[in-house]
Amino acid sequence: MADGADGSRPQFGNRLLSDPTKVFEHNAWDNVEWDSEQEKAAQQKINENSLIKLGEDEQALFEEKAGSFWDEFYLQHQNRFFKDRHWLFTEFPELSGPVTPEHFDALQMSGNNLPPGKETQSSNDSKNDSAAGEVTDDELTSTRHCVEEYPGHWKKKRILEVGCGVGNTVFPILEANNDPTLFVYCCDFSSNAINLVKEHPDYNKDRCHAFVCDITDSTFVFPVPNESLDIIILIFVLSAIHPDKMQAVICRLSKLLKPGGLIVFRDYGRYDMAQLRFKKGKCLSDNFYVRGDGTRVYFFTQDELSQMFQEAGLNEEQNYVDRRLQVNRGRQLKMYRIWIQCKFRKPR
Ligand SMILES: C[S@@+](CC[C@H](N)C(=O)[O-])C[C@H]1O[C@@H](n2cnc3c(N)ncnc32)[C@H](O)[C@@H]1O
Repeated sequence: MADGADGSRPQFGNRLLSDPTKVFEHNAWDNVEWDSEQEKAAQQKINENSLIKLGEDEQALFEEKAGSFWDEFYLQHQNRFFKDRHWLFTEFPELSGPVTPEHFDALQMSGNNLPPGKETQSSNDSKNDSAAGEVTDDELTSTRHCVEEYPGHWKKKRILEVGCGVGNTVFPILEANNDPTLFVYCCDFSSNAINLVKEHPDYNKDRCHAFVCDITDSTFVFPVPNESLDIIILIFVLSAIHPDKMQAVICRLSKLLKPGGLIVFRDYGRYDMAQLRFKKGKCLSDNFYVRGDGTRVYFFTQDELSQMFQEAGLNEEQNYVDRRLQVNRGRQLKMYRIWIQCKFRKPR
């Protein structure tokens, strides 16, 4: 999609196809309505490609080895497969930082932008001033070690991306968001992906922390306490998780959010071209498929998402179907893409 006149990327949903004869004049059209015939044909394709489900043994193998298949994926593709998510800031402006230089300076001066021991003179001074007669430096240090010592604990705003891959979301955030009080966490169960994140030239331990984590593992201890995160990002990751485990994952993530914190979500929607293209013999369970490389994908409806996130105690602020018609002008091909974008907030 073309950038806006001011150089920013316009929100999805701006280019409408009013004259079908002009369909091959652009690469993509937004909000393409489906008529009932098109929906019926899509359902028919799904009925056909999911008629035969893989057996229990194969299902178990794909679940057990899910991490290895993604690890192999990143070994092969390295950081060349997914593109940087530059639409993030128009779709989720919450991920942007303070915009005015005054705000930036004020945050810098507040002294919560550097790790303990690296504070500026002015922030140390103000700390000593406020501590006079109340809390000693030693007491402050011991409090940090006992209670707060986790990566980024000295920051005010904390974002976690789950299923971060090689950092196509995290690095654009770090580049675009100049908020000195921001700390970004990211995790993935592929250690190859996390190694690529850590080797990235913009990986900076004072601003981010990448860690290996299987989000479906209920025994995993997160490197942050409950109620410590402002935003959790789920971009094309929930769809890779077994449907039976999704609810528990969302509940676990919900606990990590501060009251008032937000989950931002974008993923595959039901009837997306990718679902219709699956051949017979690739279906694991309803709307859940395995690709040729062993990675799996689920195709959501808005209602399913509403239900799961609300079950986890979150309030729905956005639940939007992005129906896009992508066009291959050279080959005169029409590709109907369906993605779902949501925001869910933890009550205060
Ligand atoms: C489709 S990719 C999306 C990557 C990235 N979010 C992006 O949009 O570029 C799905 C990612 O989720 C990760 N993933 C899948 N299941 C996971 C799990 N149980 N725990 C943690 N990460 C997982 C995969 O390793 C992969 O990096």
